[in-house]
Amino acid sequence: MDFKMLGPSQSVQQKSNKLIIKTAEAEAHITIYSPSVIRVNITRQPAGADESFAVIREPLAQIAYEETAEEIIVKTSALTLRISKSPLRFAFYTPGGELLSKDDDRFGTNWQNSRVTNYRELQADEKFIGLGEKVGNLNRRASSFTNWNTDASDHTPKTDPLYETFPFFIGIHGAVTYGFFLDNTHKSYFDFGASCDDQFIWLGAEDGDLNYYFFGAQTVGRILEDYTWLTGRMEMPPLWSLGYQQCRWSYMTAQEVLDVASKFREHNVPADVMYCDIDYMEGFKIFTWNNETFPDPKAFIDKLKAMNFKLVTIVDPGIKVEEGYQQYDEGVERGYFATYPNGENYIGEVWPGRCHFPDFFREDVREWWGAAFTALTEPGVEGFWNDMNEPAVWNQNMPWIVKFGDKFMPEVRNVYGMQMARATYDGTRKILGNKRPFVLTRAAYSGTQRYSAVWTGDNTATDEHLLLGARLVNSLGVSGMAYVGVDIGGFSGNPTPEMMVRWNNLGIYTPMYRNHSIKDSDYREPWQYGEENLGLIRKFIEDRYRLLPYLYSAFYQTTQTGLPVCRTLAIDYTHDKAVYYEDYQNQFLFGDGLLVAPVISTALTAKVYLPCGDWYRLSTGEKFEGGKEYEVDAPLHDMPVFAKAGAIIPQQNVIQSTQDAGDGILEIHVWNSTEPSTFVYYEDDGDTYNYEQGTYHKRNITFTPASKTVTLSSVEGGYTSKYTQIQVVLKGFEEVMKIDMVDNANDEIVIEW
Ligand code: GLC
Repeated sequence: MDFKMLGPSQSVQQKSNKLIIKTAEAEAHITIYSPSVIRVNITRQPAGADESFAVIREPLAQIAYEETAEEIIVKTSALTLRISKSPLRFAFYTPGGELLSKDDDRFGTNWQNSRVTNYRELQADEKFIGLGEKVGNLNRRASSFTNWNTDASDHTPKTDPLYETFPFFIGIHGAVTYGFFLDNTHKSYFDFGASCDDQFIWLGAEDGDLNYYFFGAQTVGRILEDYTWLTGRMEMPPLWSLGYQQCRWSYMTAQEVLDVASKFREHNVPADVMYCDIDYMEGFKIFTWNNETFPDPKAFIDKLKAMNFKLVTIVDPGIKVEEGYQQYDEGVERGYFATYPNGENYIGEVWPGRCHFPDFFREDVREWWGAAFTALTEPGVEGFWNDMNEPAVWNQNMPWIVKFGDKFMPEVRNVYGMQMARATYDGTRKILGNKRPFVLTRAAYSGTQRYSAVWTGDNTATDEHLLLGARLVNSLGVSGMAYVGVDIGGFSGNPTPEMMVRWNNLGIYTPMYRNHSIKDSDYREPWQYGEENLGLIRKFIEDRYRLLPYLYSAFYQTTQTGLPVCRTLAIDYTHDKAVYYEDYQNQFLFGDGLLVAPVISTALTAKVYLPCGDWYRLSTGEKFEGGKEYEVDAPLHDMPVFAKAGAIIPQQNVIQSTQDAGDGILEIHVWNSTEPSTFVYYEDDGDTYNYEQGTYHKRNITFTPASKTVTLSSVEGGYTSKYTQIQVVLKGFEEVMKIDMVDNANDEIVIEW
């Protein structure tokens, strides 16, 4: 095996906004994206195309540097990059000179044949969070991971890799933080001191460049803001998709879907979404409907609509090899499928049997795919579930010689799912006109948040998976993906009634709340577990609907700052080591003000850690001092959730669907505190893109304990709130107090008590 070190600098040169340092082996290209984001691309193919699926920003026009005999120094207001020339090594510091992260002096960057790896110094107390959909602990230290999008059905809480690739992590040591994004789509590796006597971390890829973006902001939140500035943020999701979603593999007929939907209404269990898994199609052919079981899709969806339900249908990438099937014929005729090097179309087997796979890397193929959704949108589908896009073929092993245009499978496998989601999003957005499509994908790469939500694939009905799900959601959140769900109840296996109850309680605090299960499993709808459990699950779902004004505002925050909806405590309490303890690592903030402590179904008490500040148990109002561990009750009807002192939680009355008008009252729950606090309230029509033209309703809600007031600033935006009245509810005060209702005027409103 050919082994090459990066070697010493031979020349330093500035070409417009790029600093180019050449060694005998490679070139390092340094560009500045913002004062806190610097890119280093160490490449052996400097003339190659410089393309990224993730990054949507351009570097700044200027780069300035100083040079001495030993060093090159690049300084911005937020970062100092010191590059030692011999051998060429990179070290990042704060402007004050505190070390953030640097190459390992001995090994730096090197190659074994095409494989490139980078060795980085490990600090004694260093912790790592992120890498997206990865099992294991919140703190990734002493663990190693591979990125290779995989159909990981039957995965365990130890399986790696899973379905998605987010080669981005945040390092934390001393009082500092930094972010690191390796934008390389090949199979990649991250080892956080797992296999080298804690001497260094190492990361790299099978091929391609050591192409990374270094983030120097000094809070996790601001690093996320920069990372999502670079790779994009999600847009406002359709409000209906934040309601309860009911799925199953599969409801076999239109009548069965309708029966389940009407049962929700009969049982007064709020719900918004029904799903069709693969069996709605004819022979699993994408963009078809089974004539016998779904004979009149439009009439069927009209009936769902009349019950205030939306429908989401699944699409897989595999196009069945069958003459006379439109997508097959067109794809073959136009050469839209992945091929072998001799030009033959690749064939792999998935649900429909032998399939071809669209080359989603081509714009014309994406357009063709996107336009085909009329088969689903014309009858009324508004949500599009993209599955099997790792891409999955039976036995997993898509041959390495399969080509997508001029690229071989190993180069682009990790982005295939993202490009499918992109084609689906672009296409359905166009077809639906001004309506927001809901797109969900299983495989993803950094930047997928621009197109789609993700779920964590085929989990299992165990308590371990319940807790793992919370960690996966939180880890995806610190990797740019805020809109995430897990299969509530566990996809495989059958949950006990207690597990189903507990998992639904956690589900209401998950960005996407979907109940889904494997073929031939027991039915999972809320009424399958007896009257008493139905009552509990109904109550949780009602709580979810009450919280929608709060949740929708949290999503708005994500669209503006990249801060996720479910936030590991490592975001706000980064330097508090208790948040990384295994006992507490599953806890998270849901939006700004609620702390959720997931608990397994067999435990009726829980150890929780409340970080600094005061907290109140949401269900009882009991007050707790932060910075401490507690053993608290966790009965099945009440998983521990705490409101932060000063939390402002806008709520509404219980409705059966987001399409219900409700009673028009916005209840603003305010949790007592000695300090003032503010919440950014956001509302729009929930359904269209009119908000992009200013048709939204946004105001700050400020609680000022000293003056005993809640103030709503005057409204920004041209949307008229659906709430005509406002009622402040004081919690954690001597007694719960409901203050007299006021009209929801657009001018400033001051509510006193
Ligand atoms: C995959 C998906 C699962 C789906 C099934 C059938 O296993 O992960 O959610 O139900 O395929 O389409």
